[in-house]
Amino acid sequence: MQQIYINQLAEHEGEEATLKGWLYNLRSSGKLLFPQLRDGTGVVQCVVVKKDVSPEIWESLKSLGQESSLIVRGRVRADSRAPGGYEVDVTDAKVLQATEGYPITPKEHGTEFLMDHRHLWLRSRRQHAVIKVRHTVVRAVRDFLDDEGFTLCDAPVLTPAACEGTTTLFEVDYFDDEKAYLTQSGQLYNEATAAAFGKVYCFGPTFRAEKSKTRRHLTEFWMVEPEMAFATLDDVMDLSERFLSNIAARVLDERAEELKVLERDTAKLESIVPPFPRLQYDEAVKILQEGFERGEVETRFEWGGDLGAPDETYLSGRYDRPLMVHRYPAAVKAFYMKRDPERDDLALGVDVLAPEGYGEVIGGGERATSLEFLEEQIKAHELPAEAFEWYLDLRRYGSQPHAGFGMGIERCTAWMCGIEHVRETIPFPRMLNRLRP
Ligand code: 4AD
Ligand code: MG
Repeated sequence: MQQIYINQLAEHEGEEATLKGWLYNLRSSGKLLFPQLRDGTGVVQCVVVKKDVSPEIWESLKSLGQESSLIVRGRVRADSRAPGGYEVDVTDAKVLQATEGYPITPKEHGTEFLMDHRHLWLRSRRQHAVIKVRHTVVRAVRDFLDDEGFTLCDAPVLTPAACEGTTTLFEVDYFDDEKAYLTQSGQLYNEATAAAFGKVYCFGPTFRAEKSKTRRHLTEFWMVEPEMAFATLDDVMDLSERFLSNIAARVLDERAEELKVLERDTAKLESIVPPFPRLQYDEAVKILQEGFERGEVETRFEWGGDLGAPDETYLSGRYDRPLMVHRYPAAVKAFYMKRDPERDDLALGVDVLAPEGYGEVIGGGERATSLEFLEEQIKAHELPAEAFEWYLDLRRYGSQPHAGFGMGIERCTAWMCGIEHVRETIPFPRMLNRLRP
């Protein structure tokens, strides 16, 4: 007997088929049982008629516990009232493991309880939908960059020095009393591979010892980072625009079912199309200050600070698509950023702020090209000079304007799904207070 998956039922209408999965839910009514089976591709309602199966099968199914594993054989029947359009009339069934007391029941559970049971929570419909959307985001990212001629050049996870500031480093013991740090960004390595391949990207786990408990921060997340040789800040903004609109279009196209489960307002995703508004940091400050005068912003924003979450929400709330804020004060940005030739106090960096309060999803910009400038910056940021010697070689041998960005997959996925917190967008989130399961 051929095994099929629930998402293939349409191709097997009227046939006998075998399904393997877990019991999602069980209803009974006299001489009828309605076990719902899930197999990872979907959920289907099965119908068991007492007189049509052996007494042993009836007994094994009639009070079967949630998430028991089983194999079901039956005839696939179209039913317009069924959620997926099909039901299965059971002729045979075999329980592999009968469970008792599955901890996650249809009743409400608190988030901490669910997070403690993350290994099981992933089986639920909503979590399933979120991870499916994540998968599509990842595929869209890879396909987009591959099609645009970027070469995948993954960066190391164990690194000798900081890339994004020394306050969020995870330190690990390396050999012979040496310290290593979990990567905060593959960017510096991207700059090397971009000089070798032209257009590159790295895509992997990224670590930040973030002591903050916010809806946007994980200590381990996945970042995709494209980098382009002979490119500028404007090229990065153009790429970000095409990149994000492509992801949104792909999610809309491939994940309609999941977006429905998540009750996502898809109009919000449909409006993610170029061109995205571009705002200089200076203009953003003016808007925030005017907002304060009007009583719409709580505290007066002073020029020179980094934008906080409420500032980002206020600014991006004015648009229906992502907002690109560029040319931040150099003082709040990383050591490697190129300065604006017109204004030395500004860095040629950009943050792309998603609408609906999702905030920064992309950070990037143009890199400093001058050897002397970078040597000064490394000193000023108190970074260990010897660990950056190789990086400075990139300015000694064939220095050119180059630029790139990083996007956190979890922030992008949370935005696509329209969900509150990034913790649900990765199978096993790592946060300040969570290392388990
Ligand atoms: O703005 P960030 O820190 O930029 C960089 O690391 C650059 N070196 C990237 C580059 O230019 N190649 O981080 C980039 C993105 C953020 O916009 C956000 O989406 C995500 O990474 N991110 C986080 N996501 C979840 N949890 C965290 N703690 C994150 N920190 C950054
Ligand atoms: Mg940033």
